[in-house]
Amino acid sequence: MIHRVLSRRRFLVATGGTAVGGLVAACAAGPGPAAARRITATSPRVLAVERARRSASQPTTEVSLTAIPGEVDLGGKVVRTWSYGGQLPGREIRVRRGDLLSVSLHNNLPDATTIHWHGVALRNDMDGVPDLTQRAIGSRGDFRYEFTVPNTGTFFFHPHVGVQLDRGLYAPLIVEDPDAPDAYDTELVVVLDDWLDGLGRDPDGVFKELRAGGMSNMGGPGMARSPLLGGDAGDVTYPYFLANGRLAAAPQVVATRPGQRIRLRLINAGSDTAFRVGLPGVPMAVTHTDGFPVQPVNADALLLGMAERIDAIITVPDRPVPLLALAEGKNGFAALVLQPGRGAAPDPAALVAQLSSRPVLMATDTRAADAVRLAERVVPDVVHDLKLGGPDGGYTWTINGQVYDPQRGVPVREGQRVRLRFTNSTTMFHPMHLHGHTFQVRAPGGSGPRKDTVNVLPGRTVEVDFDADNPGQWLTHCHNVYHGEAGMMTMVSYVE
Ligand code: C2O
Ligand code: CU
Repeated sequence: MIHRVLSRRRFLVATGGTAVGGLVAACAAGPGPAAARRITATSPRVLAVERARRSASQPTTEVSLTAIPGEVDLGGKVVRTWSYGGQLPGREIRVRRGDLLSVSLHNNLPDATTIHWHGVALRNDMDGVPDLTQRAIGSRGDFRYEFTVPNTGTFFFHPHVGVQLDRGLYAPLIVEDPDAPDAYDTELVVVLDDWLDGLGRDPDGVFKELRAGGMSNMGGPGMARSPLLGGDAGDVTYPYFLANGRLAAAPQVVATRPGQRIRLRLINAGSDTAFRVGLPGVPMAVTHTDGFPVQPVNADALLLGMAERIDAIITVPDRPVPLLALAEGKNGFAALVLQPGRGAAPDPAALVAQLSSRPVLMATDTRAADAVRLAERVVPDVVHDLKLGGPDGGYTWTINGQVYDPQRGVPVREGQRVRLRFTNSTTMFHPMHLHGHTFQVRAPGGSGPRKDTVNVLPGRTVEVDFDADNPGQWLTHCHNVYHGEAGMMTMVSYVE
């Protein structure tokens, strides 16, 4: 009892200081009793959990990043965009599990920005959500992100302000396992993206058009559709699709050798496009979804919704082969080429039909590896329904009939087993993401994969379970950047 009173007082001190004056935390007197009892990003409990992750001998990885406007070459096509350091994708950050990652960001953009470390179960005050976990970093401003990296896997980072993700602001974050032996010879990180910035349009303009109902393909006959996605495939028409920042017409060529075993780390950094990925004639042994191991399964083609990651091992054939990423339900593809020795690479376009005819593995078809499966629980402590709706007038997308409101979320308590039940009554798929946790998808007849982003198809319900072990305020939202910005976000709100 005494302890409770003390921690309550510290909570008040922490949220009353000027240091957090701009945060929602400071207005915890908002509507509803839950708001007053929130464990905010700056609460002592968040610091305590981070302290427990640290160790005396912890190595530190220092990185400095600059977000800048400038020209980027997509392969014979130069565009003006925003990127990290003028590179597309931004330079990969690679650390080991347990390291302290210390990243100083300088913002040279004309707008405020933040960085969100997608999929990482980090301390809440480094999660990069403006107003909820930090103040957005103004133009010419600086911020240091510093946190212990708790899990191995394939992650990425991007801003969490407006629709900045649909510019060139993204880069891989790879967390290696210091203990696990590598069952492969080399790695290839492949970042996929849908591209429109700097080609007479920009993402802010596109969002305005969507809100004004002006996009010609919204509901029109030319609208993107996909049986695999169970309905609409996207709201935005893109002229280009990129693999590692390159157009399919000028692809990256990866020198390799026959028989080499390559671990592919596939990342969909797109904003409105799912990709169907494969190497025609070369099977992929899927090993991880969203950074967590699965029971191995082979596939000829994989589907990645926005922000999903899949790792798979391939054996290089004795001839050049393209890796293709077809923009699902849209017209176009991204590519890169694996080049063992000499020989002319086949024309990727000629192989698109071959890949399209193969069965497609969805991440939700996989099963978590035993080592990462959540402990069985007959019933969760709490179940929250999140009903996905839209688009309503003025292009609004909703959760439980509401657009995002930082004063409103679904309450959880530390130590609970929580179930989120996403129900999609719209005509489009939504890749639903939860910050700060890796849930387990519930599958018929067993447990599905561990993930932080799951595609919820039209007319479907997807349930995910997680252990509430990372206190703070965590967004859960659609990773279609336009849907999220149009309201399809809420939060999982730890309360005392
Ligand atoms: Cu990549 Cu809020 O997420
Ligand atoms: Cu959506």
